[in-house]
Amino acid sequence: MILCGFDDLDEPGAKGPITVEFPDGPRKIFLVRYDGQVRAYLDACPHLFVPLEMEDDKFLDMTGTEIMCSVHAARFDPLTGACVWGPCLGRGLTPVAVTVADGKILLENPQ
Ligand code: FES
Repeated sequence: MILCGFDDLDEPGAKGPITVEFPDGPRKIFLVRYDGQVRAYLDACPHLFVPLEMEDDKFLDMTGTEIMCSVHAARFDPLTGACVWGPCLGRGLTPVAVTVADGKILLENPQ
């Protein structure tokens, strides 16, 4: 499944939420482009399992260096999803496998 073009994401930037079909039903994910790489995560903060964003495509903090939860401001490393500050310290975002091919970001087989 093609999620979007690589150049549809700013550097740094994010896109989402995007609804994708998993074997257990539809779930929302988001994409992050940072340091020339792309990652995808479930759109669920590990603190309360609520969506991270307050508005579409706004997943990064003001500096563009960390993913931020809009509810209690937890911060996450954009490339690992690890919580680096906030109430979910020691936990992290759930990664979703994506690849980049021919300028497109593709969802790998959802597990
Ligand atoms: S719900 Fe995300 S930090 Fe509390």
